[in-house]
Amino acid sequence: MFPWDTLADVTAAARAHPDGIVDLSVGTPVDAVAPVIRDALAAAGSAPGYPTTHGTPALRDAAVAALQRRYGITGLAPEAVLPVIGTKELIAWLPTLLGLHAADVVVVPELAYPTYEVGALLAGTAVVRADSLTQLGPSVPAVVYLNSPSNPTGKVLGVDHLRKVVEWARERGVLVASDECYLGLGWEGATPVSVLHPDVCGGDHTGLLAIHSLSKTSSLAGYRAGFVAGDPEVVAELLAVRKHAGMMVPGPVQAAMVAALGDDEHEREQRARYALRRDALLPAMRAAGFTVDHSEAGLYLWATRDEPCRDTAAWLAERGILVAPGEFYGPRGARHVRVALTATDERIAAAVQRLAS
Ligand SMILES: Cc1ncc(COP(=O)(O)O)c(C=O)c1O
Repeated sequence: MFPWDTLADVTAAARAHPDGIVDLSVGTPVDAVAPVIRDALAAAGSAPGYPTTHGTPALRDAAVAALQRRYGITGLAPEAVLPVIGTKELIAWLPTLLGLHAADVVVVPELAYPTYEVGALLAGTAVVRADSLTQLGPSVPAVVYLNSPSNPTGKVLGVDHLRKVVEWARERGVLVASDECYLGLGWEGATPVSVLHPDVCGGDHTGLLAIHSLSKTSSLAGYRAGFVAGDPEVVAELLAVRKHAGMMVPGPVQAAMVAALGDDEHEREQRARYALRRDALLPAMRAAGFTVDHSEAGLYLWATRDEPCRDTAAWLAERGILVAPGEFYGPRGARHVRVALTATDERIAAAVQRLAS
């Protein structure tokens, strides 16, 4: 059974609330796609030909420019950018595309987005959960995943930590795959930094991949739009395989991505919406007796009542609020729940009211 299937009972309980469910479980965006992006999608709607796997030059230029403007990433060539059909797709297939197999090890965070493990299992590699290099001992994995800000915990890794991982990986020829899905969503003074930032990598992208999704920052989850950027040789290898595996981002979506990456205004507005929802929900959770750990960035509150996560999920479901049990993300999440900020203002206000009564 898939973990989400085990939520049937609490989902039914939450749905039974007379004022309807507040679904804070999956974390799917709810705000309408910005007109500038929709218009670009529509304007590209009549193109009959196959899209290119590498993406249009306009798309790769837009990605390079956005990474520089928004996150201070320098020295990235457009050739070292590759669009993907949503980053879940890339993550699920990365070990396979890299040709990894049973003798290889993929390292994932102790509390992690489940698709890192799924991708390793699809390729048949071993998976090790570790947050520190010392946990790895002398072993040399093929890939180490980083995810800062983290899903589910919202924890941000500092520049020093990232730099140490990069140095360690370079000495051993290990590929660092940094999932930067929530990079633009730092709160309370937390400033998440990309693995490709010169302060982390010294301007050398060898052995590094940054994985960027447009799903959350531009509310484009429905379009399936992301890209990977970094080590030119690794990107070239991924491109070569993907060309023959049919993994092309549709042309109209590529055009929409150009518009999204070229416009920071809608991205700021989206961020502001999430900030307001967080400002409403975080104090309400605390006032209801929850301890909220980390959560200084990203789209989730990592909360506990110091009891098994299923009990907490059931307690919230009685109030019509559906959340994800922390154990979905690793054994260390057994006493936490993940509460998404991705609901309308009206639904967040309903959750706040229910938590208070
Ligand atoms: C950490 C992380 N990485 C990747 C993804 C996948 O995003 P998408 O496939 O929409 O780009 C998600 C989605 O929630 C996520 O939380």
